[in-house]
Amino acid sequence: MIWVGTSWKMTGTRASAREYCDTLARADPDGWRGIQPFVVPPFTLIAQVHDALGAGSPFLVGAQDAHWAPPGAWTGEVSVPQVADAGAVLVELGHSERRAHLGETDERVNLKVEAVLAAGLRPLVCVGDSAQELASGRSADVVSAQIDAALAGVATPERVLVAYEPVWAIGECGRPPAPGEIEQVVDRLARRFGDSVQAILYGGSVGPDNAADLLRVPGVGGLFVGRAAWRAEGYLDLLRRCGTVVAENQG
Ligand code: PGA
Repeated sequence: MIWVGTSWKMTGTRASAREYCDTLARADPDGWRGIQPFVVPPFTLIAQVHDALGAGSPFLVGAQDAHWAPPGAWTGEVSVPQVADAGAVLVELGHSERRAHLGETDERVNLKVEAVLAAGLRPLVCVGDSAQELASGRSADVVSAQIDAALAGVATPERVLVAYEPVWAIGECGRPPAPGEIEQVVDRLARRFGDSVQAILYGGSVGPDNAADLLRVPGVGGLFVGRAAWRAEGYLDLLRRCGTVVAENQG
């Protein structure tokens, strides 16, 4: 199964979410057979998106983070049982924007992975190398260490999704990678973790021009998309492009 999802990051309103979900609900899933699609809205919209997509929707709903502690006195935080109650079945953890600007650490990601698994949800652990680490040839080591830390003590790593998201490729200041640039790192990750985790996704400046080629990189088991999927039509276009790659592999 190939996983192709989008995080809306800090975007989206009730009105835009309604329109987005209506468009997804009208789309024909035949175009992306073999793909598990997922949408990760901000906390405020999880319940709405879950309800609008409805039971039986092919789209899974996720959360962009969750605290590791049970519900209690943590002002401003949201717990795993709360995101589950809102309809999330997967929880993104350790995104580089949180690591760089919001004090996210490997230790906290590990605590959160345990909490998410304990609640029966699926963690999506984001890891990535900086431009300096890439330049000095340390990418695979850095990223492997982040995964080791996230999975320390975890009894069921096979439920965990990993997203390799080079910091140098993410967001408006990021640079879309040539598929060849991520091959080595993905190969190292696939050899080291491929048999233990659910899948290794790629994320960072994925768009219509590079999605198919990035998905063809050996070891890449899906794509995690930001900006290019913030409009439903953009996301559906990417799903269809990925569906073509899956069909090629099956044919
Ligand atoms: P982007 O974000 O697709 O907008 O580069 C990707 C991500 O942060 O996962």
